[in-house]
Amino acid sequence: MGSFFGRTALRALLCGPRIPGLLVRPRSGGPSWPQERTLVAVKPDGVQRRLVGTVIERFERRGFKLVGMKMMQAPESILAEHYRDLQRQPFYPALISYMSSGPVVAMVWEGHNVVRISRTMIGHTDSTEAAPGTIRGDFSIHISRNIIHASDSVEGAQREIHLWFQSSELLNWADDGHHSSCCPA
Ligand code: PPS
Repeated sequence: MGSFFGRTALRALLCGPRIPGLLVRPRSGGPSWPQERTLVAVKPDGVQRRLVGTVIERFERRGFKLVGMKMMQAPESILAEHYRDLQRQPFYPALISYMSSGPVVAMVWEGHNVVRISRTMIGHTDSTEAAPGTIRGDFSIHISRNIIHASDSVEGAQREIHLWFQSSELLNWADDGHHSSCCPA
């Protein structure tokens, strides 16, 4: 029965309604813009609130490519290094305690300008300033429970990716040229 229904339903589920005549991206032979990588981590409150899938969906739909992902109880050694510049901040102990309070989902995303675009997508650190439509602006009401982390610079991303991932955990998989069109007919 329903392989047609199945495909249509799946397409609607993954892509939302189709706008006839609007080809969002080329199906193949796209431009070869320089690629970057960034670290994105769904923090313990994001995992508790079942927002991992939402975060992944937003990054995939934006066109970025997932090249590494793991769920982990972050060791204090990684957290201390990750937040080393914040050690003198009054909120540092609470931040480490919160980041240790449950699993995080660490990911590496690849794409053109992925570092800056990710920061725009996640929104302002302080939830009171985070714009609607951003991840924090849609889901967070307090700076100390702001759902998600994303590297703030290309250099920072390199440092953080190296801290959280072994190089063997990152996959250099090839695009088949159809990925960005989302919904093959
Ligand atoms: S930035 O631009 O995200 O690096 O912003 P910054 O203000 O420098 O914050 C750095 C990280 O500290 C977290 N933060 C806090 N946690 C708990 N309580 C308070 N008050 C607080 N203020 C800042 C903030 O979420 C940043 O964490 P990450 O993991 O980088 O998002």
